[in-house]
Amino acid sequence: MKKTIFSTIAFTFIFSTAVFSIELVTSETEKKIDALIEKMTLEEKIGQMTQRNARSGSEPFEGMIRDGKIGSILNEVNVEAVNRAQKIAVEESRLAIPLIVGRDVIHGFRTIFPIPLGLAATWNPQLVEEGSRIAALEARSVGVNWTFAPMMDIARDPRWGRIAEGYGEDPYLASRMAAAMVRGFQSDDLASPNALAACMKHFVGYGAAIGGRDYNTTYIPELLLRDIYLPPFKASVDAGAATLMTAFNDLNGVPATGNAFILRDILKGEWAFQGFVVSDWASVTQMVPHGYCADHKEAAEKAVVAGVDMEMETPSYADHIAELLDEGALTLEMIDDAVRRILRVKFALGLFDNPYTDTAHYPTLANEKHLAAAKEAAKQSVVLLKNDGHLLPLSKEMSVAVIGPLADAPQEQLGTWAFDGRAEESQTPLTALRDFLSPEKINYVQALPYSRAKETHDFDQAAQAAERSDVVLLFMGEEAILSGEAHCRANLDLPGAQEQLIKVIASAGKPIVLVVMAGRPLTMGNILEHIDALLYAFHPGSMGGPAVVDLLFGIDSPSGKLTVTFPKVVGQIPMYYNHKNTGRPPQASSWVHIDDIPLNAWQTSLGNESHYLDAGFTPQYPFGYGLSYTTFEYKDLQLSSPAIKMGEALTVSAVIRNSGAMRATEIVQLYCRDLAASITRPVRELKGFERITLEPGECRTVEFVLTTEDLAFPGPDMKMVAEPGAFHVWIAPSSEGGLMGEFSIAE
Ligand code: BGC
Repeated sequence: MKKTIFSTIAFTFIFSTAVFSIELVTSETEKKIDALIEKMTLEEKIGQMTQRNARSGSEPFEGMIRDGKIGSILNEVNVEAVNRAQKIAVEESRLAIPLIVGRDVIHGFRTIFPIPLGLAATWNPQLVEEGSRIAALEARSVGVNWTFAPMMDIARDPRWGRIAEGYGEDPYLASRMAAAMVRGFQSDDLASPNALAACMKHFVGYGAAIGGRDYNTTYIPELLLRDIYLPPFKASVDAGAATLMTAFNDLNGVPATGNAFILRDILKGEWAFQGFVVSDWASVTQMVPHGYCADHKEAAEKAVVAGVDMEMETPSYADHIAELLDEGALTLEMIDDAVRRILRVKFALGLFDNPYTDTAHYPTLANEKHLAAAKEAAKQSVVLLKNDGHLLPLSKEMSVAVIGPLADAPQEQLGTWAFDGRAEESQTPLTALRDFLSPEKINYVQALPYSRAKETHDFDQAAQAAERSDVVLLFMGEEAILSGEAHCRANLDLPGAQEQLIKVIASAGKPIVLVVMAGRPLTMGNILEHIDALLYAFHPGSMGGPAVVDLLFGIDSPSGKLTVTFPKVVGQIPMYYNHKNTGRPPQASSWVHIDDIPLNAWQTSLGNESHYLDAGFTPQYPFGYGLSYTTFEYKDLQLSSPAIKMGEALTVSAVIRNSGAMRATEIVQLYCRDLAASITRPVRELKGFERITLEPGECRTVEFVLTTEDLAFPGPDMKMVAEPGAFHVWIAPSSEGGLMGEFSIAE
């Protein structure tokens, strides 16, 4: 897999990976595991391979733990109940094996951070790591010791609701973010009572669901799998992630949960992963409706053979493994290996020594410090997409009309997978504005009760509020339920009557700032001309309100940049920056055109290019894009050499100058293109990035070190290869434009 770029920041990254790397296998614990396995009955082994949803206090459940029939529970967050369950496991079950307790801690536990797609837009792995550390402390304080995160599915289709849970479309960025989250959850010592075991998910290709419809089939050639979908998982294995979850999708005809190629050959073979694999919720038995297994017994067999060590929720392992062993369909070695891996993680977590949770050890949930970290993350995650006439930042003297379904929707701004977040601890834009401005400056009309609402009876009142104010602040987007698992959309325009509301407000003639809170890129072609400024806040979490208000009023400049391409219309999907060039690449310059749509195409193959006649070939906003209240000038691109030899490194640098009037942060990006290769390569690939904060007028040289290994890709034999030849390199503010240089790798 690709190695990292040696920029200053990348050095820190590589260094901290080494420091935080967790050793799951030690001879001491392997001996303890040998001794335990020796003593275990088959029923106890199968018990370790069984995870059940917690039904706290119910007798049969507790009885099952006592009898060694459950090795893990999920979804219990009452600390007394977790301690009680652990007590039964370690004091009343025959072999005293503690439970591993799972929960979806996806972007915070009680303190909710921005959704991962928003976190990715910070391009700040350090901040993501710190956020996960806070989430770990909070989750661990209620007895949870295992999170089903990070989710690192590459998503090229914003219709897919789970795009919210990942880091976007780029494998390099996702690898950096996923590894940072793993380090944050697990800390440098998994045995510490402050650590959560991480779970990389969903293995693999889940984000490639056809049509962006959740759970749908995926077809991913091995080359693409290795190039785009696998790298974040490899980076997380290298960062020491303790567990992995399979995916729901059928991958090239074999459901991921029964797919020995990805689980045994790649994960446990090639990558030598030593932790354990858990199925997704009921994904073992779902191999029956997939049409891969005739019944639950066959599903259990195929999952174990493929390398799924623990079954989540459904009981096919408990019901059938013994019989499958008798029949010779499974071997005891397979079972012992699964149990060994599960016990390994329990030992690594220190659960045999410290099974109980002492709440006194932990900080208060959602305390001031945690909320401040969530605010900083939210602030850095917001992307400024439009700012005509420098409308933003606003002055405190202005009166504001505050309008829209998401201006004061504390639960909705938390986004998907915020089980343990609390609406009453979530600070909305309206609350924050009321703290920041004097009351007479705010004219609030919700206008629509929720994002999908269609009633227009309050629109006149909203337009009057706009007329009375100097500027209009619209808070719109999607409520939390519109993204996340199984929450996909076929139409990505602002839902309900929101577009209509914008048009009504626009008729008041006041400048309009639109703040979008959403779980995905929305298509905004219908409304962009009616608004002056656009801040994209994703679902920003508990502190979204104060973060957005700081940006609106210029306490800080927005610095986020998109990690996913924003299409103009749904019909352009899939659309992603790192696409191949085709034999007839589109070039607006070769036609009489309006924007990127040609006017005079003729019906012959001569001169035709790859584009849509009605939507062109460019996105609304490209990957890596984001504006600032200042401007940054890029100049003096320098390459240490025009040619390097295989195994050597190239230094690429540029000078970035804050040419505006405000202190601000820029995310400087490094891209490369391999011009001719044995397998065609994308038009650009992200290879590095660095966040720099500059005072007005300040210059900084940003330097990246690129090795030939960084330019390697999966070759015709599926092995990573860097090939001699010509390359382009860019230091750029986004995936479009920037300073371009050329170099070659000599034979
Ligand atoms: C999701 C997983 C999640 C699991 C447990 C499943 O439906 O796909 O991502 O971790 O439920 O809640």
